[in-house]
Amino acid sequence: MKLRPVFSVGCAVAALAVGLPAAAEPVTSADFAKAEARAVATLKQMTVDEKYVLTHGIMAVPFIPGTVVPADGVLGAGYVAGIPRLNIPALTESDASLGVAWVGGLRHDGATALPSGLAQAATWNPDTLYAGGAAIGAEARAKGFNVLLAGGVNLARDPRNGRTFEYLAEDPLLSGVLVGAAIRGIQSNHIISTIKHFALNGQETGRKYVDVKIAEGAARESDLLAFQIGIEQGQPGSVMCSYNRILGKQGCDQDWLLNKVLKQSWGWKGFVMSDWGAVPGVEAAINGLDQQSGEQLDKAVFFTGPLKAKAAADPAWAARVDDINKRVLTAIYATGIDKFPAKPGGAIDFAAHGQIALDAAKQAIVLLRNANGALPLAKSTKSIAVIGGYADTGVLSGAGSSQVQGEGGPAAVRSVGGDGPFAAFMNQQYHRSAPLKAIKALAPQATVTFRDGRYIADAVEKAKQAEVAIVFANEWRAEGLDQPDLSLPDGQDALIAAVAAANPNTIVVLQTGGPIAMPWLDKVAGVIEAWYPGARGGEAIASVLFGDTNPGGRLPVTFPASLDQLPRPKLDGADWVEPNFAGDAAPGKDQLHADYDIEGSDVGYRWFARKGAKPLFPFGYGLSYTSFAGSGLAIAAKGVSATARFTLTNTGKLAGDDVGQVYLVSRKGEAKRRLVGFQRVSLAPGASQQVSVTIDPRLLADWKDGGWTVPAGDYGFALGRNADDLGPVVTVKIAGKTWKD
Ligand code: BGC
Repeated sequence: MKLRPVFSVGCAVAALAVGLPAAAEPVTSADFAKAEARAVATLKQMTVDEKYVLTHGIMAVPFIPGTVVPADGVLGAGYVAGIPRLNIPALTESDASLGVAWVGGLRHDGATALPSGLAQAATWNPDTLYAGGAAIGAEARAKGFNVLLAGGVNLARDPRNGRTFEYLAEDPLLSGVLVGAAIRGIQSNHIISTIKHFALNGQETGRKYVDVKIAEGAARESDLLAFQIGIEQGQPGSVMCSYNRILGKQGCDQDWLLNKVLKQSWGWKGFVMSDWGAVPGVEAAINGLDQQSGEQLDKAVFFTGPLKAKAAADPAWAARVDDINKRVLTAIYATGIDKFPAKPGGAIDFAAHGQIALDAAKQAIVLLRNANGALPLAKSTKSIAVIGGYADTGVLSGAGSSQVQGEGGPAAVRSVGGDGPFAAFMNQQYHRSAPLKAIKALAPQATVTFRDGRYIADAVEKAKQAEVAIVFANEWRAEGLDQPDLSLPDGQDALIAAVAAANPNTIVVLQTGGPIAMPWLDKVAGVIEAWYPGARGGEAIASVLFGDTNPGGRLPVTFPASLDQLPRPKLDGADWVEPNFAGDAAPGKDQLHADYDIEGSDVGYRWFARKGAKPLFPFGYGLSYTSFAGSGLAIAAKGVSATARFTLTNTGKLAGDDVGQVYLVSRKGEAKRRLVGFQRVSLAPGASQQVSVTIDPRLLADWKDGGWTVPAGDYGFALGRNADDLGPVVTVKIAGKTWKD
């Protein structure tokens, strides 16, 4: 994937707006190298006691009994004390995958809600993720946060995963490039960003104890490759380790993953913070964990007294404590949070950031079906029946720690969180951007009716009377909770089928947190997937419905035709684990296993290709109101460095965006299916653009015997409209090579 200079002009403008030096830039590996030298110098000045300050922090919320948030803290996910004597700032941490999070409404402030991670990934546009990251980073500064718990990049191994909406994609290249861009944007504000949850955190069911089994090579070529690319391109100051077990060890206590892979093999210089309540004991420090976060949620505060006792007795532990401090300081200095302190009470440019959210939502919408050109709707349409999905109220968002509330709070909250301590984190919240209002604004002469969809007969009656029926169907997801299956809840499938039977011009607008089943698909005229579209999602949806925006989003995940097609038709633990946000095991019931060796690195579309299974919609799929052609694929290879060149042409009558996708389809006669490059382009009618993408050799390689191997031989590549619709194969010889990371 070719890296383009992104956002350089916009970056300087944004920097001036929030009082930063105009030179605010993404953090680079050179910044880390310089910062490390400074960190070593500071370490020499630290007293023994000072070495146990940066090692741990609290969850900065007063509702946990006994918690006092210090004066220099900000109500949010976390607080780690600073050391004023050495000008080391406290770390003030907020969740931020999709905007500065709301943390139960404690701060009584608002933030810009970006579209869900999955939606952002559907843009296939790193510049869009950079812009979103830069906006979140600026808002964080204005609220006094200097660490953002962002960068969720776990691969979508199971479409039922409740956090699919927070993550990006099922492919390591797409995920890694996009998360890297988001992190660059965040850190351009002098903010530390995380990348999380390291690693293989593929399901929420039993999230604190599910034990994932996977061969090292398979992990390196899939989930770990997404992290590796994201870390290389984003240079995050921190990695958050995961709740789950990996090969029998907790993610935050996993020597192989944290020490051997992340720190030794990849040479990453930042610090590993734990997920909240994910630290099993003090041994985690030796196994690579640098900081115990949200310490009230663990059985004990291990990274103070117990760590000090170990270090006093054993020089290896003392050296580890020095290394921890060096790493946290390196991240602080590399991002400059000491020199450019974030202060609460700053101004937020909600108009500018709302525009960024709107642009992302428009780019993210995927047109899935458009029978007989039913879409776009004519603005002269006389009557429209809008049905369901709270379209009169707002747009849906996903729940959990990533929940953002906009200015003035949510438009509506539907209580579904039960009565546990974190119930409020698991409610359905709607952002204030009602699609109904936006539809009325774009078709002012139409009679637009609304029915909430609770009574099918009533909705059908209105649909019959209208020229067009638009059914809004919602699928809500939350952290801590997987989907039992892929059906739409609350009888919405029956509602859609009934409306479609009553009106041939039925359009379905989906707001989902991941793939869903569509038993009514061939009965409806059109389907758009709007995901969770964020602060201005209603406008984005209406803009696509009426053709002001030509949809150019592409699916970042496969939509299966049935659960039987998945590597694990039954989600492990779904039949006996009682879902709860905290994720703790019931006494004596913490044995749960997930076998990722079934699919290995063949996640998502690669699994479907291996099995020859036909999904409902393939990875990379998305229609447009115009038509495109890709042509002239040529691969230039020198050693293992390969570049793909091709031309994209808009062959239709409307301007629109296409996404060029290059796939590896064979290697030495063996069938393969791997995305090796992509590029989104905007094309006027009749226009062509030449595209060139550099192919990362790891995408051609196998990881085995401790390193990467590209076998010498013939490699077949094809341009794809999506992972299942491939053009002519171009074969080139590639020289063999074996190397270590
Ligand atoms: C989530 C993390 C989050 C943390 C702090 C945990 O429950 O898994 O993603 O950053 O809480 O809120």
